[in-house]
Amino acid sequence: MEDRMARPGFVVLLAALLASTPAVAQDVALGRTLVSTYCAVCHSIERAGASPHEAAPPFRTLQERYDVDMLSEALVEGLVSGHPDMPEFAFEPYEAASIVAYIKSLTE
Ligand code: HEC
Repeated sequence: MEDRMARPGFVVLLAALLASTPAVAQDVALGRTLVSTYCAVCHSIERAGASPHEAAPPFRTLQERYDVDMLSEALVEGLVSGHPDMPEFAFEPYEAASIVAYIKSLTE
């Protein structure tokens, strides 16, 4: 079993996958505003560069590790990572969809 399978964050994301996935409007610009407000203090939210918090994965790399559509559900249900430094977040569905749209835009 891969190491990351055992991590709490993955369990949260898996639970999110099993939940329903309603289609909601996405707004990449809103997503960027939200992540620069809530996430950029720790995560790199740009196409290049290291994260301010050394343990926080740059957002452009999240798609290598997760299906980021699952992340959208997790952001609504309450995203909890295995890392104690990361606070728990809960967003409205349109906000979560916008954050995911922004993350996807980083690797387009
Ligand atoms: C206070 C610092 C901090 C903030 C703010 C923060 N994160 Fe994190 N985040 C981390 C750290 C540290 C990790 C690495 C967790 C680990 O390795 O277990 C992480 C991991 C993650 C992961 C991967 C989860 C996992 O289990 O591997 C995602 C997805 C994520 N963050 C999304 C976000 C989003 C979205 C926001 C803003 C809404 C955010 N983070 C804000 C510190 C932060």
